[in-house]
Amino acid sequence: MHGFAGGPLSPQIQDERMTTKTFTIAIDGPAAAGKGTLSRRIAEQYGFHHLDTGLTYRATAKALLDAGLPLNDEVVAEKIAREVELAGLDRDILSKHEIGEAASKIAVMPTVRRALVEAQRRFAAKTPGTVLDGRDIGTVVCPDAPVKLYVTASAEVRARRRYDEILGKEATADFDAIFEDVKRRDERDMGRADSPLKPADDAHLLDTSEMSIEAAFQAAQSIIDAALSRNA
Ligand code: DC
Repeated sequence: MHGFAGGPLSPQIQDERMTTKTFTIAIDGPAAAGKGTLSRRIAEQYGFHHLDTGLTYRATAKALLDAGLPLNDEVVAEKIAREVELAGLDRDILSKHEIGEAASKIAVMPTVRRALVEAQRRFAAKTPGTVLDGRDIGTVVCPDAPVKLYVTASAEVRARRRYDEILGKEATADFDAIFEDVKRRDERDMGRADSPLKPADDAHLLDTSEMSIEAAFQAAQSIIDAALSRNA
């Protein structure tokens, strides 16, 4: 008997499995540029899986903080990074400011990055398509992605957005402190030796300083549709 479940696959099915392709959209940019909102909308529009890779760095940092472990021990941090479950990432819990600061510190460690990049690449292979957003998706995680977007905005505009967001939830917010924070985070993300934040050579730049999220989405959609028809 041949062809029973678990038995050998016919050459045709084997061939189909080998050639089942996915379509990855890589979205990078600095903190608070609007790439998260944009990525979620794109994933919803195309029915693709979405991963906010910042959450993987945040989950690692939170696990270290919760366990009272230091943020500067690369061996410990890598072990924790390897235990991060992509399915259990909770944006509400991980969005806290202190966790973002700690994430930005551990993100400079090459072994932590390697562990998380491996998990991110496995995610990127899901079919029918994936949207990954972060800092190094187009340059390191998915350098062959058929669509790469680099979403940015001036530091002042990004600080203003974050300020408005905080005021929507809390009674007060300090614009100057937020502005300084955004600039410090940029320096750390763009200045690190391993996988610094920068646009891939073949990325499309979307500056959202004077563009609504809706306009950015429309622009992204035409870039993606053109790439999808080239890939068809
Ligand atoms: O996007 P975010 O604010 O959630 O990211 C938190 C930190 O994680 C950010 O300061 C840098 C780091 N990060 C990274 O180094 N590479 C990524 N692909 C995503 C995030």
